[in-house]
This record gives sequence, C-alpha cells and structure tokens, in this order.
Amino acid sequence: MSVSLNPLSSTFGVEATGVDLAGPVAAEDLSALQAALTDRLVMVVRKQNLTPEQYLDAARLFGDLMPQHLTKILMPEHPEIAVLDSRQSDKDTAGKAIPTGSRNWHTDHTNHARPPKITMLYAVKLPSKGGDTSFANMQAAYAGLPPAEQEKLNPLITVNVIEQDTGNVGDDARQALTKAPQRHPLIRTHPETGKKAIYVHPGKTERIDGMEPEESRAFVQDLLARAIQPDMTYRHTWQPGDLVLWDNRATLHIAHRDYDAAEGRIMHRVILEGDVPF
Ligand code: OGA
Ligand code: MN
Repeated sequence: MSVSLNPLSSTFGVEATGVDLAGPVAAEDLSALQAALTDRLVMVVRKQNLTPEQYLDAARLFGDLMPQHLTKILMPEHPEIAVLDSRQSDKDTAGKAIPTGSRNWHTDHTNHARPPKITMLYAVKLPSKGGDTSFANMQAAYAGLPPAEQEKLNPLITVNVIEQDTGNVGDDARQALTKAPQRHPLIRTHPETGKKAIYVHPGKTERIDGMEPEESRAFVQDLLARAIQPDMTYRHTWQPGDLVLWDNRATLHIAHRDYDAAEGRIMHRVILEGDVPF
C-alpha cells in the first residue's frame, strides 16, 4: 500500500499522502481511503494535480456525481463541477467582493429530498492568507449532549427550503427547488456506521416541525452553540493541490471570510449523491 493516513485531530479528520488520484488507484489504497473517510468524516488528500476529467474520475471512486443547483457557476465543459471563485462572487454595498461559502455552520443542500452525502473541494488558487474552512464532528456533538436532551431531540423534524439570498442559483434551478419544502430528521443516523449526528442547515431550516420560525431559529442557534465544542472541530488551512472530502451526514462546515476576495480563491466543487436521511 502506498497511501499514508494521518489523523488531523483527536476525534475526526484524516490526511492522506502518497496517493495520486490522477492515475489508476491501487485497489488496497482505494479501500483504505474509502474506509478512512467513513471513519474520520473529513479527508484531506494532499498534493493533487488534476484536470477536470481526472477530478471527476477521482470523485466517482467515492460515489455517484450529483447535479449542482449552483447553476450560475458551473464549469461550461464539465457542469458537474461548480467553480467557486471569490473574484466572481457577490459584492457588498461598498463594492467589495464577498467571499464565497456560508458564514454559518451548515451541511450542504438540505433543501433536497436526497441531499449530497459528500462534498469535495479541490484547491486551485488560494489567497495569500486566510480563507480556511472549519469542520465540526456532529456525531461527537450529539454524543456530548445529556441523554435526556438526546431523547427530546431524536423525534424532531426540520423543514428545509432554499435561501432567498444565494446568488449562484439560477432561476430554473430555484423554481424547481422552491416547490416542496423537505422534511429531514434533526438527528440523523449514518447509513454506513449507524452513528447518530445533529443534522441541520440553519439557513435553510424554515422551522422545526411544531415550532414557529422565530422559535426554531433560536432553538437551533442555542443547540449548535452548546453542542459544537472546540475539541470536536478541525480548522483546515488550505495548501495548493489539497482535495478535501467531507461527509455531510455527520459534519457541519463553515467558511472563514478573513481574506481579500479580490486576490482570488478558487475551489472546484463536486457533490456526490446521498440517500433520504433517516
Ligand atoms: C461549500 C462550502 C466552504 C469554503 O462549498 O459548500 O461551504 O470554505 N465551502 O469554500
Ligand atoms: Mn457548504
């Protein structure tokens, strides 16, 4: 086996080195990578140099490609890849580019009936400083709650809709997605490991079933503020050539916006098909 796997923090995250996803990947390396991602939830594969075709082939090693609803920023020849380029992003009132990525903890695309199981970002260009991405292990966050609170949370359902203010979603995609609000369990069971995790996108949660929207917002905010402890987070400082995969079923992530968007931070983003959450 040529791949080396090193933990990135005590509870989750793993770094893979010594593997080139541009070429054929040896069967034992592939199964080691797949097992590491399932177990560690976030995987950083270092020093990759991938054409879009090679990137998509590498993504298929981990699942089926899922169409993206960020239809305004798709790569024309390869629409399975969304190009997150901070120089193209929305401008604030002073005309300054707003860095891409949500400023709040979230999991991706809960407004879908079958949200993506995995999101992948490939670092193509990085700003001179800043622009990290942080991750939180939501299995550990759930496990850290008192059992009586876990009992109360287990039956709750979130009602998910697309946000109004995401500029990268084209009109057709928005129309298709605004039709039906999607109901998902707040506490989700991982289909491969059976572990439970807090599963929520605060920006897309219109309400928790049985609560008013205002009350829901405060409830989710309070829950995440208590459940996400520093010990169960990992902050990724990007290196050129990093390919990062995260499990949306068991982690939340947040983009740090402490960089100059005009310098250009370019990520190639791919998502993989997931199941109906249970
Ligand atoms: C995403 C996302 C964060 C980042 O692609 O879903 O949240 O740091 N990205 O770019
Ligand atoms: Mn995201």
